[in-house]
Amino acid sequence: MTQHEPVRFGIVGAGRIARSAFVPALEATADAELVAAASRDRARAESLKPRRAYDDYTALLDDADVEAVYIATHNGLHKPLTLAALERGKHVLCEKPLACNAKEAAEMVAAAAKHDRLLVEAFMYRFHPQIAELSARVRGGAIGTLKTVEAGFSFHAPDEQDVRYRADWGGGALLDLGCYCVNLCRLLFGGQPVAATAEGTFHPTCGVDLSLHGVLDFGDGRHGVISCGFDAGPRNHVYVVGTEGTLALTRAFANNRKPTTLIELKGFDQKETSFPATDLFQLEIEDFAWCVRTGRPPLLPPDDGLLNARVLDALLYAARGGGTRFAVQT
Ligand SMILES: NC(=O)c1ccc[n+]([C@@H]2O[C@H](COP(=O)([O-])OP(=O)(O)OC[C@H]3O[C@@H](n4cnc5c(N)ncnc54)[C@H](OP(=O)(O)O)[C@@H]3O)[C@@H](O)[C@H]2O)c1
Repeated sequence: MTQHEPVRFGIVGAGRIARSAFVPALEATADAELVAAASRDRARAESLKPRRAYDDYTALLDDADVEAVYIATHNGLHKPLTLAALERGKHVLCEKPLACNAKEAAEMVAAAAKHDRLLVEAFMYRFHPQIAELSARVRGGAIGTLKTVEAGFSFHAPDEQDVRYRADWGGGALLDLGCYCVNLCRLLFGGQPVAATAEGTFHPTCGVDLSLHGVLDFGDGRHGVISCGFDAGPRNHVYVVGTEGTLALTRAFANNRKPTTLIELKGFDQKETSFPATDLFQLEIEDFAWCVRTGRPPLLPPDDGLLNARVLDALLYAARGGGTRFAVQT
């Protein structure tokens, strides 16, 4: 893009995703620059090679030169850091899931509106051209009437010291991985489910969901079937089933910078559409920067994060034995 001044980013939290995905993508684009980074450990912040490194998150938020904050901490800090950044007039790109639950997400959405700043949930997979193509084919009737979206995301995450195992910080497979599956179901069905039910397996002591398998009822015999877990081999797929055919992606969510293929099945015919390797984080940053500079609304408005969180709440409630939850959107 680059018809604008680069957006001046500050990164809060120098963990895996900031280091391995966000910083390389920032370095590859001319649309944004890394002005500051904050970590509890200054050396870790410095290792991201920002212009200024902080060992205090608030000091970064107080840096007047930072226009936009990328929140890359564990989920439990997404809400307080987002609120603090918005209050200081910063735009916020917050890692997924937006919050630990819908109540938190609602506060964040209200704060973004109050302070008139961008708040975007960093679902980088949405920027892959294959998702736009998948969505367009469904809307265009390529597979007839949409009936079922089956989405799965899992990998082995056995390290119980990992933040994913902290229930009080929004740990668990649903918030880490299932949030993508829910987001894609909502995109393809074009709205909220009317009911959600689920089963899960839970860690015996820390209590996070190790796996969760849910059914979302989108009405009129249309369903989303989602499955996620830390206790299974790697997969991130979607099968989109209509009355006349099926569309499939076997690399639907992960940013593995590998070529991908969209498969369309009709009867015994199989049509494949290839997509070149792409850096989803770079596309996400460039889109965010464009929105900051032009005022264009983001692909993922804050409300989308709130609606996703409501479905995640309903699924967890059901999986913990609360039963089917109806009227998920309310
Ligand atoms: N979009 C994606 O593809 C993707 C992929 C993976 C994860 N994520 C999301 O990114 C976020 C970070 O995930 P990650 O995999 O990078 O996790 P991680 O490597 O474990 O990093 C945890 C982060 O939390 C911060 N933190 C603050 N207080 C902490 C504490 N008491 N204990 C441990 N860490 C603490 C750490 O910052 P310091 O530098 O201050 O220690 C670090 O940035 C999560 O919200 C996750 O859902 C997104």
